[in-house]
Amino acid sequence: MTAASANFGDWMKHVQSMMEDTLAAFLPSPATVPNRLHEAMRYAVLDGGKRVRPLLVFAAGDLFDADTKTLQRAAAAVEMIHAYSLVHDDMPCMDDDALRRGKPTVHVKYDEATALLVGDALQSQAFIVLAEGIEEQNSSAARRSSMLALLAQASGSAGMCGGQAIDLASVGLALSLGELERMHQLKTGALLRASVVLGGLAGKALSVAEMAALDAYSAAIGLAFQVVDDVLDATADSATLGKTAGKDAADNKPTYVSILGLEESKTLAEKLRNDAHHALMPFGEKARRLREIADLIVQRKA
Ligand code: IPE
Ligand code: IPE
Ligand code: MG
Ligand code: MG
Ligand code: MG
Repeated sequence: MTAASANFGDWMKHVQSMMEDTLAAFLPSPATVPNRLHEAMRYAVLDGGKRVRPLLVFAAGDLFDADTKTLQRAAAAVEMIHAYSLVHDDMPCMDDDALRRGKPTVHVKYDEATALLVGDALQSQAFIVLAEGIEEQNSSAARRSSMLALLAQASGSAGMCGGQAIDLASVGLALSLGELERMHQLKTGALLRASVVLGGLAGKALSVAEMAALDAYSAAIGLAFQVVDDVLDATADSATLGKTAGKDAADNKPTYVSILGLEESKTLAEKLRNDAHHALMPFGEKARRLREIADLIVQRKA
């Protein structure tokens, strides 16, 4: 199924179900030692999640005619990093959450040391999967290193981990809008941007103009995603979200809702959706899936 055929809902289900199989194949077997760690890694990744990052990898990859096998590996790698970030985010030393994707969190189901190791091991597994894929495809050394470096940068202190550090250091503080935006761009935006750019890089070397357009799109959806996450935390219930609702206010976290209020946050999300659509204009109709994902990110209910 390609970007050109099928409605968005069918395409999304197709990518989600393909990714379930792909992730299951790329995770270590629970029948191998250390069995319990492998079982917990699979528990953290499989059977849950919207798979927004894989959807972005495939949508961007389709735009640049990337090969499906490479996209599967890139998408699995980003989703493993994301799953690891959620396992650690939920631990008692961070947000201390008991519910994730409608199931007990990893440290509740297993134990804290296992949750720590699940995150560590998923991070390594992500790079194994990506590196092996790039070798398989026989790509140039430059392409290989740029894909690996991109994911590493997006995950580390200049990306997701950096954003999480700022998040934890900001409890109870009145951040300026600029500071809040910076935190959100790092903790959530960085991995979403990496998903888009990895999809593009899997297809071909991107021109400066293509990269700039993808960057503008990614910046808009990256921020929109966390603005909507903040809104849903304040407005949806735990059963719908599959995670504890109302947690940000209870933990005194600075969020878009706490700083801008609910209505202005929703207006901002709409504005960011328009910015994302605008950024894709140079690609024309071929960028349909990326546009539809921007809509999904802003309109989602969970
Ligand atoms: C939740 O991410 C954490 C944030 C980065 C806001 P998702 O909303 O993508 O979570 P899953 O993968 O669907 O569970
Ligand atoms: C988490 O942000 C972002 C990462 C895991 C990197 P949140 O703490 O807002 O995510 P949820 O609401 O627990 O999913
Ligand atoms: Mg958090
Ligand atoms: Mg959290
Ligand atoms: Mg949240």
